[in-house]
Amino acid sequence: MAEFIPVESFDIVIFGGTGDLSRRKLLPALFHRYCDAQIPDDSRIIGSARSEMDAKSFRRFARDACQAATGDSFDTKNWTAFEKLLDYQTMDATAPDADWDGLKSKISDGRSRPHIFYLATAPRLYVPICEALGKAGLASEPARVVLEKPIGTDLESAKAINDGVCAVFNEPQVYRIDHYLGKETVQNLMVLRFANTLFEPIWSRAAVDHVQITVSELLGLEGRADYYDKSGALRDMVQNHILQLLCLTAMEPPNALDGDDIRTEKIKVLRALKPISAKDAARHTVRAQYTAGLVDGEPVKGYADELSGDEPSKTETFVAIKAEVENWRWAGVPFYLRTGKRMDSKRSEIVIQFKPIPHPLFGEAGGGANRLVIRLQPDEAVRLFVQIKEPGPGGLRIKSLPLNLAYAENFALRYPDAYERLLMDVVRGNLSLFMRRDEVEAAWDWVDHLIAAWAESEVPLESYQAGSNGPLSSAMLMDRDDRAWVEGG
Ligand code: BG6
Repeated sequence: MAEFIPVESFDIVIFGGTGDLSRRKLLPALFHRYCDAQIPDDSRIIGSARSEMDAKSFRRFARDACQAATGDSFDTKNWTAFEKLLDYQTMDATAPDADWDGLKSKISDGRSRPHIFYLATAPRLYVPICEALGKAGLASEPARVVLEKPIGTDLESAKAINDGVCAVFNEPQVYRIDHYLGKETVQNLMVLRFANTLFEPIWSRAAVDHVQITVSELLGLEGRADYYDKSGALRDMVQNHILQLLCLTAMEPPNALDGDDIRTEKIKVLRALKPISAKDAARHTVRAQYTAGLVDGEPVKGYADELSGDEPSKTETFVAIKAEVENWRWAGVPFYLRTGKRMDSKRSEIVIQFKPIPHPLFGEAGGGANRLVIRLQPDEAVRLFVQIKEPGPGGLRIKSLPLNLAYAENFALRYPDAYERLLMDVVRGNLSLFMRRDEVEAAWDWVDHLIAAWAESEVPLESYQAGSNGPLSSAMLMDRDDRAWVEGG
């Protein structure tokens, strides 16, 4: 049985409270935690946005959001109690005449409990809102500010945001969210590595041939053309989610589970990532954009046709990269990364491919090398492929079969959404699953080098059909190294 430890009472103000993130993720996450009796009844949840609304209409908005997220299992009884926590403040937080007194009257004395300011707004508003919070006297401890990705569009803009935010808040008050770090299996990756003696001795170049990290999506633009076309798959997915997965896979065991111990190990990995030069860009990376095709049996438009502009877009919706972590543990072990929209499946997976046995004792009998597959979504699972003898007579045949730790079969639980855990961690003041400023900046530094290398060496934008597993050159990237992507391991 899951056990939920109640957090202390808190106040949270969601700037952008009527927006998409608040509706789809934040309000349902808070409601779920309330239903599990984790949020005390005297906590306050205040939506804030420019839309003229009163508390009653915000409650209606929140109810629709939570109902949409929970479907048939919507808990009416708990809702009646939960909605009493909700309030709303109409305001443009960056306007000189913003009604900060009105907001203050809705929250309690800040010294007695955490005040959490969740910036579910456009990133260009992060600094002005933080400055306004500072001027309104709302930034001192134990106030916390939560920032969503993207933190900038490159190293320079990320630094400007971090400088502006940190001029008002101290670094330990800043929670930069990467929702992948709140996913159940991502945390399990740490448990698997550091709570078992089995893996750590072989978790290095001594036994690992290579690592693959795949995040493939069925979705396309989902009405986010304005943002996505300026961003592309490298900035949208690799700079944050995929590099975070790489860090957790490659990092050294931390001294403890405290925020800074884990983050210090992750930053070492980011700093060890070899910058991809213009000379290597064409051989080590692939960028591509989807054309029309069939996704899940439904015809979908190509990326270019989903955009409204006349100019042809050069934005990549797929990227594959051969990355190298230049340190003692991983020298010579490639990390193959790929992500794409409108692919053949929704799947996030980390594959640790071990080296083949040194001497082929069983000759032609078959079998392969060991492989550990960590499936983040859907169908969370950890599978360790081992070689076994196929039963029966007729000679010795070896088969690769998984020891299968499928979550659904072992834990009859509803998995909390990543935001549920992360929001409760903000209340607890646990920073370990949030990105520190140096991590964000180191990730941008590596990504900026790659973008410059693409521009300098004119790496072409290829195409792939929607509903496929990416362009041919993605398979060729592996093939050149005598390897292949593991599809649905
Ligand atoms: C977001 C990206 O950070 O992550 C989206 O901006 C992407 O483009 C999403 O679709 C994927 O998240 P998940 O949890 O659905 O894998």
